[in-house]
Amino acid sequence: MRMARCVEPEWLDVLDPEDPRASRARRDLQRVNKVMGNAAILARALLKAQPHSPRLIVELGAGDGTFLLRVVQRPTLRWHGGKIIFVDRQSIVGKDTRAAFSALGWDVDTVEADAVTWLQHASPGPVDLMIANLFLHHFQPQPLTALLSSAAARSNLFAACEPRRSYAALTGSLLLGAIGCNDVSRHDAVISVRAGFADQELSALWPASSRHRLEEYAAGLFSHCFVAQRTHARHA
Ligand SMILES: C[S@@+](CC[C@H](N)C(=O)[O-])C[C@H]1O[C@@H](n2cnc3c(N)ncnc32)[C@H](O)[C@@H]1O
Repeated sequence: MRMARCVEPEWLDVLDPEDPRASRARRDLQRVNKVMGNAAILARALLKAQPHSPRLIVELGAGDGTFLLRVVQRPTLRWHGGKIIFVDRQSIVGKDTRAAFSALGWDVDTVEADAVTWLQHASPGPVDLMIANLFLHHFQPQPLTALLSSAAARSNLFAACEPRRSYAALTGSLLLGAIGCNDVSRHDAVISVRAGFADQELSALWPASSRHRLEEYAAGLFSHCFVAQRTHARHA
C-alpha cells in the first residue's frame, strides 16, 4: 500500500540552536546520515555525474556543514578545493568544521537565510554544483516547485539525498531510540519519512523546460536520490 506524502513541522527547525536538545539532535543527525549512508550515496551520484572538481558548491539547508565535509573527504571524488556557500536558516557551522574544510582547500561562506528566498535573489550565474541533504522534504509541493525552479536556473548540477517514503524507512525511523537518538531526532525522523519521496516525484516538480538530464532512484535502505545535470554546462 502506498504511503501518502504528508509535510509537518519538525522540532529541530524551531528549537533555539543553543538549546541542548537541539545540539544533541544535530549530533544525532550525523549518526543518522551515517546509518542512511547518505554521504556515500551522494558521492557515488556525483562521481557518476561530474568527474571534475567543482569550483563552487552551494548546499541548501546545510545545517552544521558536516554532511558535505563527509562528502568532500571521500577519496574517490579527488576534488581539490574551491568555494562552498552554506545556506541555512540557522548559522551553525562550527570552527572545527570550517578548519577541516580549509585544510582540504575549501573556502566556506555561510548565509543565514530562508533557502527559497535566497535562491530567488541569488546571482543567476550557474553554480557548478548545488546539493541538498535531508532538506527538500521540509517543503509542500508549491514552495518545493519554486525552489527547484530557482535551483534549475542557477545550477549546472543539482543533487539531493532525501528520506525515502517507504515502510522500511518508517520502521528504521521508529528504531532510532536504539542508537541513542533523543526525542527531537526520534520525532523528526518519523515526520521526515512521511514527508519523504518515492518514484519520480522530484522529477515531476523539476521545470520541464530546463535543459537538465534527470535521474531519480531509491538508494540504500532508507534514502531517495535525485540528480539533475545540465546537458551543456553554463559558466558564470
Ligand atoms: C534535517 S536538517 C539537515 C541538515 C544537513 N543537510 C544535514 O544533513 O546534516 C534540515 C536543515 O534545514 C534547515 N532548514 C529548514 N527549513 C529551511 C529553510 N526554509 N531555509 C533554509 N534552511 C532551512 C534547518 O535549519 C536544518 O538545518
